[in-house]
This record gives sequence, structure tokens and C-alpha cells, in this order.
Amino acid sequence: MSFSRAEAYAPATVANLGVGFDIIGLALEGMGDRATVTFKDRPGIVFSKISGDGGMLPRDPEQNVASVSARAFLDHMGETRGIEIQLNKGLPLSSGLGSSAASAVVAVVALNKLYGEPYSRQELLPFCLEGEALVSGYHADNVAPCLLGGITLVAGISVDAIQPLPAPDDLHIALVTPKVAVPTAEARAVMPSHVPLKTLIFQTGRVAQLVDALHRGDLRALGEAIGLDKVAEPARAHLIPGLAQAREAAKDAGALGVFIGGAGPTLCALCDDGVIAERVARALQAVYCALNLTSEICATRVDNRGSVVLRAE
Ligand code: HSE
Repeated sequence: MSFSRAEAYAPATVANLGVGFDIIGLALEGMGDRATVTFKDRPGIVFSKISGDGGMLPRDPEQNVASVSARAFLDHMGETRGIEIQLNKGLPLSSGLGSSAASAVVAVVALNKLYGEPYSRQELLPFCLEGEALVSGYHADNVAPCLLGGITLVAGISVDAIQPLPAPDDLHIALVTPKVAVPTAEARAVMPSHVPLKTLIFQTGRVAQLVDALHRGDLRALGEAIGLDKVAEPARAHLIPGLAQAREAAKDAGALGVFIGGAGPTLCALCDDGVIAERVARALQAVYCALNLTSEICATRVDNRGSVVLRAE
């Protein structure tokens, strides 16, 4: 069954998961983007409205992640009609919460619905990647969990490289987003092009521990492994104010592990209880308050649904 208008939702994501640079991501409950896509007789893609972005996102369909992903899908379908997109950004930009991935995913998921959902969420990955690539190159660690929900292993950018990992039921996540923009392109530019063999051995060992801990549902081991990033964190620490103090405060408040969410500046603290996660979030905010920086906090969980269609007509 096909439709002329569909609305979709795509969740926030954090990727990297600390040590798993570009290869593991998770979807977060309670925050995300929405888009309504409508077929038009005229060819081309237009934005009827973009809200929630403070006027920051490009309205030019060739420069916006949502429309570039939608274009890839329309071309694949050999479509001659155009579409109108209404995009409602629930996610802050350049914050490490997968805002560009959510834009890419939400448009394609709504568009897929217009055709009666010929493709599974996993099969939509290549179209979404075209949009994500516009701002930060071809990496699927945000797009995959955004599409599928849960925690995903992303061993490459092809559909068969995506593998869901178990998300422990008692995993809670405290987040703090200090009000400093860290554009992904900038955070990627500071990454080292080579790592010493010793670092490689340490890092791959921690990634293996992380995956093992997820499979065993061992949150303590997960928290220990996740925050021991010796590659991205040292290179990016100068972009994230208060990182060391925040980690200490979160641990004192009961967090099991702290890591930079994506390219930052959001920091994520893993906890094994919702009340502790609330307390950790407040402790993180107090650190930024002392640094005279405003911040947003929340305590949340893994979103196991991923992107969803909200309505179609
Ligand atoms: N894994 C990516 C990075 C996420 O850390 O650069 C940014 O979108």
C-alpha cells in the first residue's frame, strides 16, 4: 500500500561508544527528530519548514543531509515526482548526539513508507549514508543504531557489516551537553592518522572487553572498558572543556564509566540504576556550572525501537 504523506521519528544516538571508534553506537530513548514527507507533482525536493535548528541548517536541498539522503532514495526508485519535507529538529546540532544521522534517517524512513515500506530498516542504510557523508564522511556508527535501535556493531558501511549487540536491561545513561559546539568535521580532523602498535593492542583489547561485557550483561566490566579510550579521547580532549573534572564527578556520584559521546561535546556516563543516573547527570551539570558554562542534562536508556513511522495517509 502506498501513501502520499508520512511522518517518521528517528532517535538520538551516541557513537563512538568510548573505545569503539567508528564501530559501535547506541540509540537513546526520549530524544530525536521528526519529519513529514509529502509527494508533489512537481519534480525536485523542497523544505516546507525546518524547525528546532535555530535557523542553522541549510535550506538548499543539495546541502541538507535530509534531502541528500532522500534524493539518493528517490533516484534509486526512479521517481519523477518531487517531495516536500517538513523537518523538526529535536536534536541539537554539533553536540555528539547524532543529529545529522537522525536527519538522514528520518527523511528516508518516511519516504520508504510512502512506497509501502519496500525496504527493511537495515536496507535503508546506503541511502542514509549519502546524507551523513555530506557532513562527516562515510561512517555508519550513528546511522545504523538510529535506523535499528539498540546497540549496534558497525564493522563497515555495507548492510551486512551491521550486527545488533545485546543491550543490558539495567543500563542507564546520564548525559551532559555543555554549550560549546564541536563540529564533527573539526573533531575528525584532529584524529591521528597512525597509532602505535602498543596503543592498538590496548585499544582492541578494551573493545573486545566491551563486546564481551555486553554479551554477559556485565555493566561493571562494560563501564571499565568503555572509558579507556587511548585514541580518540586524547586527540579530542582539548575540544571538550572540563572533561577530567566531569569524569571524576560522575564516578563519585556512582557512574561506572564515562566517555565522549560521538565527536563531543556531550559526555555519557553509564550507570546501573535510574536514580543513580539522575544523580550523575546533576553532578555533571554542577561541574559545568562551576566552569560558567550552561549545559543540558538528562538521564535516559537505550532506545530499542530505532526509527519509526508515526503516521501515513
Ligand atoms: N564516530 C564519529 C566520530 C561520530 O567520533 O567522529 C561523529 O558523527
